[in-house]
Amino acid sequence: MKDFADKIAVITGAGSGMGRDLAVRLSEQGAHLALCDLNEQELQRTVELCDNRVRTSMFVCDVSDEQALEKFRDATIEAHQQDTINLLFNNAGIGTTESFLTGSRSSWEKTFDVCWNGVYLTSRVFIPLVVAADEGHVINTSSINGFWASLGPSRTHTAYSAAKFAVKGFTEALINEFRLHAPHVGVSLVMPGHIGTGIAANSRVIVEGELSPEASELAAAFRNGAPTTSLQAADVILEGVREGRWRILIGEDAHILDAMVRADPEQAYEESFVTQLHEAGVLDVLVR
Ligand SMILES: NC(=O)c1ccc[n+]([C@@H]2O[C@H](COP(=O)([O-])OP(=O)(O)OC[C@H]3O[C@@H](n4cnc5c(N)ncnc54)[C@H](O)[C@@H]3O)[C@@H](O)[C@H]2O)c1
Repeated sequence: MKDFADKIAVITGAGSGMGRDLAVRLSEQGAHLALCDLNEQELQRTVELCDNRVRTSMFVCDVSDEQALEKFRDATIEAHQQDTINLLFNNAGIGTTESFLTGSRSSWEKTFDVCWNGVYLTSRVFIPLVVAADEGHVINTSSINGFWASLGPSRTHTAYSAAKFAVKGFTEALINEFRLHAPHVGVSLVMPGHIGTGIAANSRVIVEGELSPEASELAAAFRNGAPTTSLQAADVILEGVREGRWRILIGEDAHILDAMVRADPEQAYEESFVTQLHEAGVLDVLVR
């Protein structure tokens, strides 16, 4: 897809971070938008930030709830008076470090549900509308944790990693699926490194219903210590889509980690691997 003017783009998790900045950038480039998020107030804020020359609709919905997604689809068709869309950004996600062995099962499953089922169910509901369009592209956001299942030796990370590996596998398999059954549809897998968004704070609020002062401080350190802003990330994603690349790594940290894991996978979960990462000057805040 060479340009986004007059295309219709669905973005999940558009109330913050990369989803919001994708919406802003796409609106500046003439795409019409159908946005969803759990957080109505922040979603409304995104609509206000978008270029008002494009048509923008918003819908409050949980991407892990198929019936809610079907309502979002119907509302999108109604708002845009069209039963096709061109771009689907499966972006919504939460990040938690719940232990599989000693942590809360409901929190573990919530993370997996949003990060994997959210992508799967949104794809089930919206990909038929992409396939029905003349030209389409599906963009699924995984993570560096889609190819490296760790945040370093001091923390557990099974739910998020399992979900993000699933997103990676699904998306890579879609490449051939589309070639066989819908060759006019492209697909991209987004693997961001550390991006300065509100994900740490937002995830706490979504999973635990509150943000303690200590968690708030950690979330601020996460946002402020990132080497890449979410607007920069949105630009990298859209450039990758325009260039038709299926593999979109974001940030020097993601590129370095990817090269290191590929070079020596057997060492990837050793402490020395994290020492090497820090010697390379990347992922200091995220990985410890
Ligand atoms: N920020 C990073 O460093 C980073 C790194 C790698 C991958 N990612 C991934 O990038 C994507 C975007 O993250 P971000 O950093 O912009 O986070 P963010 O918290 O700033 O934005 C995510 C948005 O998704 C929404 N959301 C969460 N659960 C939802 C649900 N069940 N249904 C609908 N909306 C929901 C949140 O309310 C929020 O507005 C996520 O999939 C995340 O896992 C982020």
